[in-house]
Amino acid sequence: MSLLARYLNTCKGCHGQNFEKRALGRSDVVKDLTKMDIARRLIEYKTTTESDELVMKAQVARYSDAELKAVAQKIGK
Ligand code: HEC
Repeated sequence: MSLLARYLNTCKGCHGQNFEKRALGRSDVVKDLTKMDIARRLIEYKTTTESDELVMKAQVARYSDAELKAVAQKIGK
């Protein structure tokens, strides 16, 4: 399994197998978002101080903007 596939596996517990769920009952449905929108949101989570966003900050903290854009390419519309 590629590193990217392995990383995406860690999202599924919260977002669903195909990003079709509202994570923890409150995220947007990620599969309906555009690639650009997902990339922007993932990159913004790296620097967020909002308490309800810290769960995503932990997911993206170790990744470069380029890596997060590659993730968005894989899962966005
Ligand atoms: C522990 C549960 C959890 C995991 C694991 C998780 N997420 Fe999230 N994610 C959330 C929650 C909760 C939100 C909504 C946070 C907020 O209020 O902005 C969210 C929001 C998002 C959003 C923005 C949608 C929105 O509501 O604005 C994207 C894109 C996203 N996650 C992608 C991912 C990806 C990609 C992974 C795996 C690398 C991942 N998430 C792993 C819980 C999780």
